[in-house]
Amino acid sequence: MNINFTYLPGDGIGPEVGLTSLIVLNATANAFGHTLDIEEHLIGGAAIDERGTPLPDETLASAKRTGAILLGAVGGPRWDHLKGSDRPELGGLLILRKKLELFANVRPAKPFASLIASSPLKPEYLEGVDFVVVRELTGGIYFGDKGRDNLGAYDVCRYSEMEIERITRRAFDLAKTRRGKVTSVDKSNVLETSRLWREVVIEVAKDYPDIELEHTLVDAMAMHMLTRPRDFDVILTENMFGDILTDEASMLCGSMGVIPSASLGAGTTGMYEPIHGSAPDIAGQGKANPIAMILSAAWMLRTSFGLDAEALAIEKAVEQALDAGQVTGDLGGSLSTKQVGEWVAQNVST
Ligand code: NAD
Ligand code: IPM
Ligand code: MN
Repeated sequence: MNINFTYLPGDGIGPEVGLTSLIVLNATANAFGHTLDIEEHLIGGAAIDERGTPLPDETLASAKRTGAILLGAVGGPRWDHLKGSDRPELGGLLILRKKLELFANVRPAKPFASLIASSPLKPEYLEGVDFVVVRELTGGIYFGDKGRDNLGAYDVCRYSEMEIERITRRAFDLAKTRRGKVTSVDKSNVLETSRLWREVVIEVAKDYPDIELEHTLVDAMAMHMLTRPRDFDVILTENMFGDILTDEASMLCGSMGVIPSASLGAGTTGMYEPIHGSAPDIAGQGKANPIAMILSAAWMLRTSFGLDAEALAIEKAVEQALDAGQVTGDLGGSLSTKQVGEWVAQNVST
């Protein structure tokens, strides 16, 4: 098969973990008799520097054409003086997600056995933890009207019933394939958008009588995620709460550098990206953990190309690397970003 996808390395550690994931994809394609057809394009700060815009037309056109996008990370201190949609995050990543209508961002938290000791949590809290956060990705406070006026600054949070309903159905459909439980996270004691969120979730749940539904306020959820993380199966939440809770969830798994994600819409287009950012504090030093990016690449093979065995081969090789301690410093190892990728690549087998 010809695996044609759009590759957007971005900024900071994005190109480092990105290149490493390509090493692994290349080895996988060779082992399974496929070819890679990579369309590399600029996004974020790198695109601002070279093209004067965070999302050049050809980047968007390629993403639309291939429908499969592998993205590193965007942003960094170099572009922090910029405002609004001139920024790498708003004008690059958020607009791309919006234009492709990738409203469902799926972020798994299932600690690898050999990483239990890397988490700051006690091991007894982590055994059996296996949940997925379904984060709404194209609405809410990220996309509402924002600005400054003589009273100060504002960011409007807005959700339509349609936006809530479609992400809720995603979460319930996913729960059907797992342990059958949805935990909806909101702030309905304060926010009107959260009150609507809860009403719509309750209504949609009537179509899924076999799925258990619970509602949790986001502040309490931040605590429950640490005290009883194994109670959760599918966690459904809005854009900003999902952003914050998944960084917290990454620490159950040992590092920000091991959690991949898929951003999906109603059609077949998918974007695959680690949950971490461009990590300016370690960029350019070969210290970045490439596992989240490698697992994102595996997810792309499975979901956008139907290559299940290939994805599994990568996931198995990653697990072997973790078991063998062939890891970067964030997980207590001494390998560089590229060395981890090479180790994984060498262990991908049919
Ligand atoms: P970050 O996720 O980049 O880093 C947070 C901490 O985790 C840092 O100490 C970093 O060194 C560490 N870390 C992150 N990824 C790692 C990896 N793969 N291996 C080892 N350690 C890792 O978050 P931040 O520092 O708050 O943000 C930095 C920049 O990234 C900002 O400009 C932000 O807007 C951007 N950002 C982009 C994305 C994205 O493109 N998807 C996501 C989050 C943040
Ligand atoms: C993420 C990031 C982005 C988000 C930023 C960079 C806009 O933090 O993908 O988690 O908040 O969605
Ligand atoms: Mn984030």
